[in-house]
Amino acid sequence: MGYDLLLKQCEASIDPSLPFASLSNVSSILFHEIEGLNWVGFYFAKRNRLELAMFQGKPACAILPFGKGVCAAGFGKNETVVVDDVFSFPGHIACDSASRSEIVLPLRLDGRPIGVLDIDSDRPSRFGNEEAEFLAKLRDLLEEKLPLKELSPALFD
Ligand code: SME
Repeated sequence: MGYDLLLKQCEASIDPSLPFASLSNVSSILFHEIEGLNWVGFYFAKRNRLELAMFQGKPACAILPFGKGVCAAGFGKNETVVVDDVFSFPGHIACDSASRSEIVLPLRLDGRPIGVLDIDSDRPSRFGNEEAEFLAKLRDLLEEKLPLKELSPALFD
């Protein structure tokens, strides 16, 4: 499936009245429809750490401290981080030893990061411009459609 169609499929699965279900289904769609992924999920910021939320894949680290790893880098810089080879990223946190490359996009409320979408692949350099552009559109859609303000403090604070 091309990314245009995949974006439409994700959009159809987003129900603003069901944010938990929507994030669960989006992670499932990405995990099953994009080739070569071994983990897809969301982390949300609470206090000085990122906490695991909806995801697909093997069990993952429930807590990621600010200042260490790829997720914290994307969150801290408030920008997309693409890592072609996780072994060359200082401080990378290996939840699944099969992971080789990773992309992290911040999820924002009023421009301020509140969490991340994190995707891992067991292939090196799996994430290029096409993936980054598609995922940014999807992230923008989630920010626009989901009542992120109302989710606080259930998901983040
Ligand atoms: N690799 C991430 C940790 C989260 S897992 O990949 C699910 C990191 O370095 O922040």
